[in-house]
Amino acid sequence: MHYPVTRLRRLRRNAALRDMVRETILTRHDLIMPLFVCPGKGVNNPISSMPGNSQLSVDFLVEKGKELFDQGVQSVLLFGIPESKDETGEVACQHNGIVQQATRALKKEVPDLYLIADICNCEYTTHGHCGTIVDGDVDNDQTLETLAKQSVSLAEAGIDMVAPSDMMDGRVGAIRTALDNNGFHNLPIMAYSAKYASAFYGPFREAAESAPQFGDRKTYQMDPANGDEALREVALDIQEGADIVMVKPALNYMDIIHRVKTSFNMPVAAYNVSGEFSMVKAAAAKGWIDEKRIVHELLTGLKRAGADLIISYHTQDIIQDL
Ligand code: PBG
Repeated sequence: MHYPVTRLRRLRRNAALRDMVRETILTRHDLIMPLFVCPGKGVNNPISSMPGNSQLSVDFLVEKGKELFDQGVQSVLLFGIPESKDETGEVACQHNGIVQQATRALKKEVPDLYLIADICNCEYTTHGHCGTIVDGDVDNDQTLETLAKQSVSLAEAGIDMVAPSDMMDGRVGAIRTALDNNGFHNLPIMAYSAKYASAFYGPFREAAESAPQFGDRKTYQMDPANGDEALREVALDIQEGADIVMVKPALNYMDIIHRVKTSFNMPVAAYNVSGEFSMVKAAAAKGWIDEKRIVHELLTGLKRAGADLIISYHTQDIIQDL
């Protein structure tokens, strides 16, 4: 009889031992919670496809910010739903823009909550595309100007970090230059570097009221079939001054997360997007899965793949277990 000399089961025999040899541990410092801010006072509009998430007016957003911070959440990512939209997203560049207001209020009331702003035009344009339309398509270089303006305006309002999600070529460089020219040398950029044209953003477009009114985003977001191209996107963003690079969505793109992490010595963020969140919530509501265990397994998997930071709508639900 030949017995195995190496028995991997030896280290799995009890909980203390498993704790001692665990390779990946999810902590509250890894997580960023997205929030949606809308005009008005006393407004809490639940987002039906994303249970537990709402569009909140600034007063309620501040309450939410305090609650999250007290529970151990360090950082939030802000999305704005403006009062009115325009052709080019100029409404996002105004001193009194919705995210600018939210930033000032949060900085005043919850000063240690780290604030990141999504930089894009799709929530602010009447047509729902991520930039200025010329001849039926988003014009890259005109859009760079509004993105840079939006970033500077949010920096002036007190944002801690900007996160461009538009996928225009050269936007990280344009934003970096504009921030530097206005004295914001120390404000970091987290670039949505490898952002795919994904069906997983469906629920978000209800949340942010940002669905494109014609066409789709395939002339600027990446083809889900491509991996090498993601590395080229990341390399360019790093050259242009990105401080953190992001892969989005997360779960279907763990190979990309891994390749980015191993190819560049950079902090990597993964965006566990709305559709990924809603699938878990829907299955949990049916009683088909154990939500807590599933979420832990999913997010730990992202970290194991190479993500240093995870943006997730599950953040508040799990923060107290970490
Ligand atoms: C804005 C933006 C989107 C998301 C984050 N920033 C939507 C999109 O590109 O259509 C998606 C986030 C999510 O699905 O959770 N451009």
